Amino acid sequence: MAGQQRVLLGVTGGIAAYKSAELVRELTARGCEVQVVMTRGAREFIGAATLQALSGRPVREALWDAAAEAAMSHIELARWGDCVLVAPATAQCLARLAHGLADDLLSTLCLATDAPVYLAPAMNRLMWSHPATRANCEVLASRGVTLLGPGTGAQACGETGPGRMLEPQALVAAMLDDAAGAGALVGRSVLITAGPTREPIDPVRYLTNRSSGKMGFALAAAARRAGARVVLVTGPVALAQPPGVERVDVETAAELHAAVHARVRDCDIFIGAAAVADYRPRDYVGEKIKKRDATLTLTLDRSPDVLASVAALESRPYTVGFAAETCEVEQHARDKLVRKQLDMIVANQVGPGRAFDTEDNELLVLWPGDGRQTFARASKRELAEALIALIASRSGCAAATVAS
Ligand code: PMT
Repeated sequence: MAGQQRVLLGVTGGIAAYKSAELVRELTARGCEVQVVMTRGAREFIGAATLQALSGRPVREALWDAAAEAAMSHIELARWGDCVLVAPATAQCLARLAHGLADDLLSTLCLATDAPVYLAPAMNRLMWSHPATRANCEVLASRGVTLLGPGTGAQACGETGPGRMLEPQALVAAMLDDAAGAGALVGRSVLITAGPTREPIDPVRYLTNRSSGKMGFALAAAARRAGARVVLVTGPVALAQPPGVERVDVETAAELHAAVHARVRDCDIFIGAAAVADYRPRDYVGEKIKKRDATLTLTLDRSPDVLASVAALESRPYTVGFAAETCEVEQHARDKLVRKQLDMIVANQVGPGRAFDTEDNELLVLWPGDGRQTFARASKRELAEALIALIASRSGCAAATVAS
């Protein structure tokens, strides 16, 4: 989305509403026309006069405002916006939108528009992680609504955790980049690895890990939704193939290496989300090993490092790795970023019930030059959407980018 766009800015009743004034300034500074729509709750936190002065337009508040409706009906208003941004979006707002309520002006507009809808959640950390809010976010994301944030940090209630609204500058940049990325990867080709590998010991035994493939599959689906041609090279998983994605099934690290290198020269972006076995048994025993001795020693050899080998290609794609760490996540991930000469690394803290084979996750993304962004706990689908938007914008692959 270039400048000169019409943004319907919904403001709901949370303490972060005080940032709405800055948000209006940021949007107008980037050439957007802004029409503010406040809920009743928002009025408790910020005055309409401030937002009216900054946006240069009367703030709309009520569905049943005869004078405002006569000037522009709510349906016309819904058509007016090129996009809708609700910031802050409270837990109450997410719940109402997830249920399709249309009992105030803002919820009616969100229902009556076919423009992209962006929500910037802001709430207490426990409200954010409550299963009801998680379910509402899933429903909204599955309907194509984009959730921007929240960030993690100190909260107005005195607690610390996920639930802070993103800062206005970051929010506007993310929205404009994402809007530019509606189809940002059209004409681009993305190669993604997913799942575990299996390294055979004998005909019935193998070495593997706990990866389910969910993260890699979510990334493949998100890249496809962004318009890319997607090839997904996957180890053994029990997941349905994402629509429109070419899938290549492999078993071992060596097979994964071969499958990637047969296709990598055609791709613009490579994302290594697979949990590739670092070691494999030196000798494959052709018959089932009998339990004769009290102990059994296996000699393991290093597997090929697929990610590092892609990054080392002379003409290489934008190369994104993952890092699964049990401790000192940021330091280990940054080491991998540098050592493997990656363009970006996505770090996750792993351990019992964390990252591997879970429905949701939280991520730390790093790139050279001290680049850093955190993604608060969310479903892998939501995280994949956000990651693909970030990768599209940072790789320069987005069809049309807006300077941030
Ligand atoms: O599959 P899920 O259940 O959804 O879980 C997601 C995940 C935790 C598996 C995923 O998000 C993740 O972190 N994947 C990388 C796991 C891993 O192997 O991390 P690592 O730190 O050991 O490897 C670093 C990077 O090198 C990874 O991009 C990996 O794909 C790559 N690698 C590692 C070894 C190897 N021989 N070849 C590689 O390409």
